[in-house]
Formats: sequence, C-alpha cells, structure tokens
Amino acid sequence: MAMKIPLFNQSQPRESKLNQESHIPEHIAIIMDGNGRWAGKRGMPRFAGHKEGVSTIVKIVKAAIKYKVKVLTLYAFSTENWKRPKPEIDFILRLPKEFLDIYLPELISNNVRINVIGDMEKLPSYSREAVQYAVDRTRDNGGLQLNFALNYGSRHELLNAMKKILTDINDDKLTWDELDEQQVSRYLYTAGLPEPDLLIRTGGEKRLSNFLLWQLAYTEFWFTDVLWPDFSETEFLDALEEYRQRKRRFGGI
Ligand code: IPE
Ligand code: IPE
Ligand code: MG
Repeated sequence: MAMKIPLFNQSQPRESKLNQESHIPEHIAIIMDGNGRWAGKRGMPRFAGHKEGVSTIVKIVKAAIKYKVKVLTLYAFSTENWKRPKPEIDFILRLPKEFLDIYLPELISNNVRINVIGDMEKLPSYSREAVQYAVDRTRDNGGLQLNFALNYGSRHELLNAMKKILTDINDDKLTWDELDEQQVSRYLYTAGLPEPDLLIRTGGEKRLSNFLLWQLAYTEFWFTDVLWPDFSETEFLDALEEYRQRKRRFGGI
C-alpha cells in the first residue's frame, strides 16, 4: 500500500501551508447569506448588515488574490430577492456602485477582471452603468476573475439557454448532433469558465437558493453558520483546508 506523505510540515504556519499547497480550488462560488440576521442581532436595520457585508467582500477578494484562486463568483442578488421590500432592494442595488467607486482602482492594480452573471437589463441604471464600466475597464486583466451574480437565477439562466439553443437550431446555427453538455455550458452566463470546485454558503442555511444548478453538479459544498458580515479569511482558510482533504471521484472509484 502506498504511504501517505504529509503534504506540508505541520509546524509551519497555516498560511504558508496553504500557499505551498497545490489543491487550491480554481473556481470558488459563494452564497453570501446572513446580512439581515447579523444586523437584527445588533438591533440594527437590515441595510446595516448589507453594508457590513461589503467589507467582507473586500476581505475575501483580497484572500482569493493571495491564495491565487482563478475565479471567484459571489451571489449578491437573486431573481427571487425582488420579493423584498423596495427600500431594501434599492439599498442592495446601490452597493455595487459604492463598492466600485472605492475599490475599482485597487482591483485594477491587482489585475482583477470583473464580470457579471445575471440579467443586467432589469437592474436600475445606476448599478448597470457602474458594473458595465468596471467590466469594460478590466476586460483585458489576467488576474483573478471576479464574477458578481446580480439578478441571477439559475432557472432563468437555463430557460434562456434553452430558448437560445432552440432559436439557433431553427436558424441552422446549431444542429441536434452538435448539441452536447459542453454546448449547453456555452449558452450559460458562465460560458468559458471552469465549473466551481468549491461552493461556500454562510449564514447556516443548507440550500442552493437557485444558484448555478447546472454548474454545481460535481462541486464540493462547504456550509458555515457564520453570518456573511462575520466571515473572514480564517473561515475562508477553514473551507480551503477542508476542500484539500476531500476526495473528488466524479463518479469513478
Ligand atoms: C444575503 O443576506 C444578502 C442578500 C440576499 C442580498 P440576507 O439579506 O439574505 O440576510 P438574512 O439571510 O436575512 O440574514
Ligand atoms: C440567497 O440568499 C441569495 C443571495 C445570497 C444573494 P437568500 O437569503 O435570498 O436565500 P433564501 O431566501 O434564504 O433561500
Ligand atoms: Mg438570506
């Protein structure tokens, strides 16, 4: 039997262990949940939790750059979140512009490429324009690809893909024989990206809430009760460490 060789010296600090580690997930997707409860516990209005959640985004983007993650996809607003009270929706949808006004220069200097997955057309113009500017401005960057899922819903994405596929077949741009799993992936917002290796959900719920249903088919899931505004590099490293120990079989043995 093959001997299990330790991947790193146990006496090394945790960060340097992970830095040397080759098992860093290429693509991490995060359901950033728990902002409202974080605020509620402090007797604050829900929007205070969303504001604090932006600080966590900054920390986790920095950590992702540090550990050389290639793609980070953050679930920021779902197609179901329109059910919330209008003032809360307005507040959340102002955050992308606020975030980019402050951090875009730093993201650019770190070579980050920003993208959006979701239906941008339904976003208010102030968020759409700020995000579109950041996407255009960072298009040629080769560092971390940072995807914001904004007005994103997986069923909406899949339904749209099905409609486009049928249209393309009708227009002779695609044939039945060419249509395979890879082709379907090309019709999704995540076209060209590797599938997520690791999904993190904060806030204690153990569900997908309509996030990346196709793309997460073989992703490793990691859940924590920690609310998103309390999430930090420490928990991020916990997730990376557990991921490193998972055995991915993809149906094999
Ligand atoms: C996640 O936090 C942010 C969004 C869904 C926009 P929530 O606002 O869902 O916070 P909880 O789950 O109510 O605590
Ligand atoms: C999921 O959180 C969506 C985002 C984090 C943007 P929700 O708070 O909307 O999910 P549910 O309603 O608890 O499933
Ligand atoms: Mg929630």
